[in-house]
Amino acid sequence: MTVTKALKSRISTRAFLDTPVSKDEIAEILDAAKFAASGGNLQPWKVIAVAGDARQRVIDAVSEKLSKDPFGNEAEFPVYPEKLWEPYRSRRYEVGEDMYALMGVPREDKGARLNWLMQNYQFFGAPVGLFFAIDERMNKNQWAHLGMFMMCVALAAEEKGLATCMQEAWTPHAKTVGDALKLEGPYIVYCGMALGHADKTAKVNQLRTKRAPLDEFAAFDGF
Ligand SMILES: Cc1cc2nc3c(=O)[nH]c(=O)nc-3n(C[C@H](O)[C@H](O)[C@H](O)COP(=O)(O)O)c2cc1C
Repeated sequence: MTVTKALKSRISTRAFLDTPVSKDEIAEILDAAKFAASGGNLQPWKVIAVAGDARQRVIDAVSEKLSKDPFGNEAEFPVYPEKLWEPYRSRRYEVGEDMYALMGVPREDKGARLNWLMQNYQFFGAPVGLFFAIDERMNKNQWAHLGMFMMCVALAAEEKGLATCMQEAWTPHAKTVGDALKLEGPYIVYCGMALGHADKTAKVNQLRTKRAPLDEFAAFDGF
């Protein structure tokens, strides 16, 4: 698989089969992703992979937190700016609407939409969850490099025929997740990722998101 092919075929998968993924496969993916570049070669990432009981422990901890304090926000930062502006606002709206339209969930059906959102906290059925953490003393710069590492993980998984969904849905529960992971040291959980075999029959996995054309985000000068 070429890098371009992997870039174009990777999607956020939101329904997985329960087919297990071995520790060796995950280790190979992470061992490839470690070649991600990072400023000063700091490699400011830490990743915790969970399956089986450990996966369930995270699910249970967050489910308990949600039942007691559904709006309790443990994130170190607001996941989005308080009020999004154009064109970002429309893009965010559109991806949600496109996804719910595919699944036939109308706008008024807030219950169905919430239930769907809650699927995040089951890793969308994926047998493996990855959590990406960073030393809390790092700056914005290193957070960007953690993101680059995450994308490398997603692409390496793609090459192996595995599917992923990055999940900032866990971010507001970062402390609860960190405790369930028994994460020690000055680390904070930034984001999760569901990983497994895609359920290719699931409607939600038919979603193909749009992208702004090149001339909207790229400038060329002096060519
Ligand atoms: C850092 C990050 C966090 C994300 N968190 C979630 C999430 O919590 N739940 C979810 O369903 N999708 C999540 N997404 C998926 C985005 O909605 C998706 O990447 C975007 O709509 C583009 O679609 P694509 O990934 O299928 O190309 C996340 C993506 C990124 C990069």
